[in-house]
Amino acid sequence: MAGGRGSFASRLGFILAAAGSAVGLGNVWKFPYLAGAHGGAVFLIVYLGFVFTIGISVMLAEFAIGRAGEKNPVGAFKHLKGGAWTGVGYLGVVGSCVILSFYSVVGGWTIAYAVKTAAGMLSLADAKAFGGTFGAFVADPLQPILYHLAFMAMTIAIVARGIERACRLLMPLLFVIVVVLCARSLTLLGAMAGIKFFLNPDFSKLTGAMVTAALGQAFFSLSLGMGSMITLGSYLSRQTHLAGSALWVTSLDTLIAILAGFMILPAVFAFGFDPGAGPGLSFITLPAVFAKMPWGAGFGTLFFVLLAVAALTSAFSLLEVVVAFLVDEKGWTRAKAAYWAGSAIFLLGVPSSLSFGAWEELKLFGKGFFELMDYAASNVMLLLGGVLIALFVGWVVSPRIMAETAHRDGKLFRLAPAWRVICRYVAPLAIAWVLISGL
Ligand code: TRP
Repeated sequence: MAGGRGSFASRLGFILAAAGSAVGLGNVWKFPYLAGAHGGAVFLIVYLGFVFTIGISVMLAEFAIGRAGEKNPVGAFKHLKGGAWTGVGYLGVVGSCVILSFYSVVGGWTIAYAVKTAAGMLSLADAKAFGGTFGAFVADPLQPILYHLAFMAMTIAIVARGIERACRLLMPLLFVIVVVLCARSLTLLGAMAGIKFFLNPDFSKLTGAMVTAALGQAFFSLSLGMGSMITLGSYLSRQTHLAGSALWVTSLDTLIAILAGFMILPAVFAFGFDPGAGPGLSFITLPAVFAKMPWGAGFGTLFFVLLAVAALTSAFSLLEVVVAFLVDEKGWTRAKAAYWAGSAIFLLGVPSSLSFGAWEELKLFGKGFFELMDYAASNVMLLLGGVLIALFVGWVVSPRIMAETAHRDGKLFRLAPAWRVICRYVAPLAIAWVLISGL
């Protein structure tokens, strides 16, 4: 993928790259705290409903647009239709910058926690104290920004050299560690309350805000709406069976999110943390779990390193959208595009980082800067992108894209009629309804 427009040598290679984009902080950091804040099991049910209807369909639509357009999102829409539709591509480029700006701040927290765990922070006597440690760390004016810089520098290096594949090799190991941590968390004294919270739905918690958050999270976790999957699809050969790939990626991503729920939520209840604690939830809960394990420091360090790697492969796919745009449309070199776009995104992330400390009092529309960026991206831009992508495939280029999405032998895949109905009616109406009621 480094020089020129390469393509994936195998279907497995493509699935791993798309899974590398999907699996990241969205699964381990965001999903557990959203489930915690929005009633646990009800959130899980609504989330799963969205993922396996709208989510998987929009993912397939993005793969198809990418493969048919053979370009970055702007180029792909221009090539397939042009006119106002090109705007969907621009929305993706801008949205990817916004998401990466705060994603990189959290990526920085992950690196910091790898360092702190290795340096012995786990020796705190009381599990509750990890809340204070996290609060003090993110409120520091300098430290989190330096780690944000480190995370962004690594993302730039990986994109500039096209070496994301090397990172992906480590992901199976993350999976193994997550499973081990689930086992530890589920056997803690008092874990049962967390298991009930996560699996036993209380439908009185079903609110509009929760439904918006669940749909936004489905898009965020599956890397949809911003052209990440269009860009990956553009490196795809004509032979790959797209529908099967979308099912694989969606299933893997969902499996990791559910495991992350079982890793975090039982421990939250066992240690008496507040499940609605917000973005810090995983970072205060996990150290408490490590402190209760043999070789906790080694284990914890390895975990945070691997989580940072998973975050890097996701960040790669976000920066790649912007870089592919600058390379294809503006003729920049990969390295120059990665460096300049990455630096600008780093600066955009600085206020997000400061909003946990020095700029805590600064509120726009009643939200801190980090919260505002996350809300604008996850609950507005991703959903808007999703509606437009579904409409595009369902109505605008329908026959052609349908054919592109067929099996190798030219036949349509079995669920193609359902996909069509979802792209034409279900996804646009449902997303538009959530989007409008959310605003
Ligand atoms: N899905 C990734 C995660 O869960 C983040 C991500 C990568 C993303 N590309 C995206 C989110 C595009 C939204 C849109 O960590």
